[in-house]
Amino acid sequence: MRADWSEGATKKKQVGIWDMTMLSKITNDAINDNLKQRFHNGDIYTYISNVLISVNPFKDLGIYTPQVLKSYENKNRMELPPHVYAVAEGAFRNMIAYNESQCVIISGESGAGKTEAAKKIMEYIAAVSSGSSSSIVEIKEMVLATNPLLESFGCAKTLRNNNSSRHGKYLEIQFNAGGEPVGAVITNYLLEKGRVVGQIRNERNFHIFYQFAKAASQKYRDSYGISGPESYLYTSAAGCLDVPNIDDVKDYADTLKAMDVIGITATEQDEIHRMLATILWLGNVQFVENNEGNSEVKDADVTNFIAYMLEVAPEMVNKALVSRTMETSRGGRRGSVYEVPLNLAQAQSTRDGLAKAIYDRLFDWIVARVNKAMQARAEAKHAIGVLDIYGFEIFEQNSFEQLCINYVNEKLQQIFIELTLKSEQEEYVRERIKWEPIDYFNNKVVCDLIEAKRPPGVFAAMNDACATAHADPKAADQSLSQRLGACSHSKHFELYDGNFTVKHYAGDVTYAIPGMTDKNKDQLLRDHLELCKSSGSQFLQGLFPEDLAQDSKKRPPTASDRIKQSANELVAKLMQSQPSYIRTIKPNENKSPSEFHDQRVLHQVKYLGLCENIRVRRAGFAYRQTFDKFVERFYLLSARTSYAGDFIWTGDSKSACVQILKDTDIASDGWQMGTTKVFIRQPEIIWGLESQRERYWHNMAHRIQAAWRRHMAFKNRKAATIQRAWRSKRQAFELVKFREKGDELLGGKKERRTFSICSLRVFNGDYLGVNSRGKQTRGHLVREAAGIGSEPALFSSRIETLVPRAMRSAIPMPRQLVVTRDHICIVEERVVEGLLQHMLSSKAPVSSVRDLAMSPYQDGWTVVHLESQPDLVINCEFKTELLTWLHSLSQGRIRMQVNSTITYNNKNMKQTQLKFVKNEGAKRTSFVKKTVQICSGLPAGTRSKTARDRPRGNAGGAPRQQQQQQRVQPAGAATRVNGNNAHGYPQQQQQQQWSQPVAAPRPGDGGGAQGGAAAVSGGRPPMPPAPPPPPAAAPQHPRHKALFDFADTNGGMLSLEAGRIYTILERNDTGWWLGSFNGAEGWVPSNYLSPEPEPEERARQSPAAPVLPRPPAMRNGSAARNGSGGAAAANEERNSMAQLAAALTSRSPNGGTPHQSANAPPRPAVNRYAQEDSDEEEAWE
Ligand SMILES: Nc1ncnc2c1ncn2[C@@H]1O[C@H](COP(=O)(O)OP(=O)(O)O)[C@@H](O)[C@H]1O
Ligand SMILES: [Mg+2]
Repeated sequence: MRADWSEGATKKKQVGIWDMTMLSKITNDAINDNLKQRFHNGDIYTYISNVLISVNPFKDLGIYTPQVLKSYENKNRMELPPHVYAVAEGAFRNMIAYNESQCVIISGESGAGKTEAAKKIMEYIAAVSSGSSSSIVEIKEMVLATNPLLESFGCAKTLRNNNSSRHGKYLEIQFNAGGEPVGAVITNYLLEKGRVVGQIRNERNFHIFYQFAKAASQKYRDSYGISGPESYLYTSAAGCLDVPNIDDVKDYADTLKAMDVIGITATEQDEIHRMLATILWLGNVQFVENNEGNSEVKDADVTNFIAYMLEVAPEMVNKALVSRTMETSRGGRRGSVYEVPLNLAQAQSTRDGLAKAIYDRLFDWIVARVNKAMQARAEAKHAIGVLDIYGFEIFEQNSFEQLCINYVNEKLQQIFIELTLKSEQEEYVRERIKWEPIDYFNNKVVCDLIEAKRPPGVFAAMNDACATAHADPKAADQSLSQRLGACSHSKHFELYDGNFTVKHYAGDVTYAIPGMTDKNKDQLLRDHLELCKSSGSQFLQGLFPEDLAQDSKKRPPTASDRIKQSANELVAKLMQSQPSYIRTIKPNENKSPSEFHDQRVLHQVKYLGLCENIRVRRAGFAYRQTFDKFVERFYLLSARTSYAGDFIWTGDSKSACVQILKDTDIASDGWQMGTTKVFIRQPEIIWGLESQRERYWHNMAHRIQAAWRRHMAFKNRKAATIQRAWRSKRQAFELVKFREKGDELLGGKKERRTFSICSLRVFNGDYLGVNSRGKQTRGHLVREAAGIGSEPALFSSRIETLVPRAMRSAIPMPRQLVVTRDHICIVEERVVEGLLQHMLSSKAPVSSVRDLAMSPYQDGWTVVHLESQPDLVINCEFKTELLTWLHSLSQGRIRMQVNSTITYNNKNMKQTQLKFVKNEGAKRTSFVKKTVQICSGLPAGTRSKTARDRPRGNAGGAPRQQQQQQRVQPAGAATRVNGNNAHGYPQQQQQQQWSQPVAAPRPGDGGGAQGGAAAVSGGRPPMPPAPPPPPAAAPQHPRHKALFDFADTNGGMLSLEAGRIYTILERNDTGWWLGSFNGAEGWVPSNYLSPEPEPEERARQSPAAPVLPRPPAMRNGSAARNGSGGAAAANEERNSMAQLAAALTSRSPNGGTPHQSANAPPRPAVNRYAQEDSDEEEAWE
């Protein structure tokens, strides 16, 4: 992968070589020159392969912005300029990729930039690690808050560094399996507690004392007696109260905020401050010598205040400061206990000892409290540890603290050597890899010189000296001088008068012997322990958990024992993790951003062993991994080892590695196989493999996403189909119920027409399209003429009314009937001078309708009896529906009278009679001289057939999907619903009795269904077919030619005509395919079809027989259908009818339900059935 500088952290040009494994000459000078060049250009970071060299810039370079941080995310090391973020990124990604804990080891001199680097790493990991749950965010915030908190308590201004860490710290961020931080733990190493009681000139105590003294709240000032740092000897004696670039007041606010973030309670904070104040006051305890030469407290007020703060008796404080309890021992048995008065120096040392002990314990308490707060919230799988330890130190006067600090630095150098130089080369030997051996200085001899037991090292000598001369520090120092003589065998050790020099890897350091044994002994005085144990403060007692009754004969561990133990534990811990290294370099001693002191840097370059580091890297291999792990990670990259994401290799892991490397075209000199590991020479190779792997997953993810999207689209489509079907079914169901209500109202008193009981007949209502939106439609003209404004038409239909003639009897004439919620209107249509005109014939309020009178026969004549106005005598094909609407609108008031002679008020309000006679010879209804003749219809009481009356299965065994398909079928025949006949009238609606077989269609007779209908309706010629729909778009579906005729006898199928081309929308292996012709859809038998290679133009084909989709299957058992239901059921029924009417009434003709066209009915699902019904015609005279 190529570096993308445009989005990189910096757009400025890099100078020098940023990975020094590429240096042309490997010498200390060349390294120094390269670092210098880069330092002056503001490029403080440089690699030696995976080791980051960082030179302290001593100025803000603006390279830690969130944008820069983001730019390193998911980038490999070579993609962007060297940066501490790249190291953090590498550690974080490696942890996730290889399931291994990581550690970042930061080493370098004091003030070289270790602590800053550690903070940047934590910031980076907190920023890029996933997880936004509150507990994860909390952990991240806490981890970041530990920095200001522990810096305040654990850092101090030294001559070397204004923010020098005076303790070592290993912070491990714990992650769950998903790479989310779930907890953290800090291990604390040897706080330099001596700093609490005294510092060399121009150094300071720990920051917290200055922060507290300068910025304490009034509450603390009053209750803990706090004033400025100049008031206390512990903070003022070294003559440095302020530090440039350190704002103690602001830092104090940060410290308090950090305490809050970590969850340190207000009470706990009070206790912490109480301890700090006690320490400050302890420093102000002065002693005077009495006549016996023993010390006495100069000012009892101070000790009394300290007693108050410690919640102990003042005498106890006094006693603990000016005397020491001694115990004689005889022959290993306890002797008598007595008190020894202390001289001035001893009393001061005792006072300081108490202050140091309290601070040391307080610091440990804070670390433990922080750890408690950061305890893992979930199971931790891995960790990233960041080691920030005090740096190598050389002062003019070096003491026990420097020895410990430098010893820990030796140990870290050891790890570095172990892992990067020694073990690397040993591994090559072990794995039988060809390489070039490199010489380097192994500092193990120095580590041994300090820590070995046999021959005794420096620490052992100190411990021996403590043991033999425990009572007198001076005698102990002398004893130490003698014992150190045993170390002189080492060429890294020299003993002078009162001093000894250790030749450390980082330089020679001379340590002063005086005071060393005492510092090493580091024993908590029994008097101090007793004092604190006697406190009324639970907090103070908790700081000293030791048991007073413990066996005092056993030598407690010395400070060197403790540092040795924790250093070795640290090494063991670091060795278990995958290390990354940051080696910090200090360019000058003056904290100057421009000074690059060649000799100082050269010295560091030498002792850090950078040359050797580069040589080993060059000779060796950048990457190694066990065969198993390598295969586990990269098996996807070879088709021989993986198939569809599965591991398919049957051989061993080693051969799988070889296969993968070959299949990924890695040059053979780029890798070697060891005995257990594969070695890859350049890091670029491994990055190449990683990016191939990434691509694989990317492609996979892409495929999965595509499949998922397809699946979701399919699901949504199906869901929409089901929803549509359900809506249509529900709507249809209501309308079917409405129709059944009509059956009920007839009450078995009137013979039925076959059309009336047709299973697909539903009460559609607005047959004239009065509710249609179009302005020029007939429906609209009727509406205008009826003068109903925007009132929705609930029912509209063509009718006949009896029109009186002069001197002659009235005759039926065509009219339009419109029923709204309030009115019943009759509109006349006339052609006047070639123009169609509509005019209102009559209009009556619905409220004036008394009842409807009908004959007991199948005719459509109905007399609408009106209050005090001429009755309406109409012949309406949908009289049952009209009755049902009026019944519903009048809340059940309007009912039907049945009589073979009906009396009505004519236009002149004269009572007139209309007679009805049966005439079986009359094929159609005839009207002669106010007598209607009609043949017998279906028996009275015949109930309407609905879909639910039809068998659920179908004779042809059409597949189940058929129903769904039918419901989504486009309303292909819709254009014919209100299509005009030759006279400009809407076509008469045809009907088909579904239960009767339909004759097979003959070519040219307009389709099977029409032919069938003609047979049923008594030989009337079929109506001309509707105009063909516009030519369809180029077919996307296969087209098949019908080999034979096939008639739809069962509904839902598409009739076939031999020789016609049909589009097949869906094929399956049930034997029934979904076919389409001229917009009509239906199931067709697949064995009647043969594939059609050449598409033909649809437009040329004659229109297909209309397909009558089957309505959705209905559930049986409606109370409405059950005419014998009780009063409650009837009421319920009435209500539901009223609701339906209200629902329909509330629809605005111009809004609400979408209208497809002038002819298209307002409710598609319902109209489909209406259209289907009206495809056929029943004529009458
Ligand atoms: N990357 C950096 N950018 C800017 N200033 C830095 C950087 N690293 C260190 N410093 C400066 O150097 C000082 C000492 O750094 P620090 O990390 O405390 O040293 P160490 O921990 O190694 O003793 C810091 O207080 C800061 O002023
Ligand atoms: Mg530091």
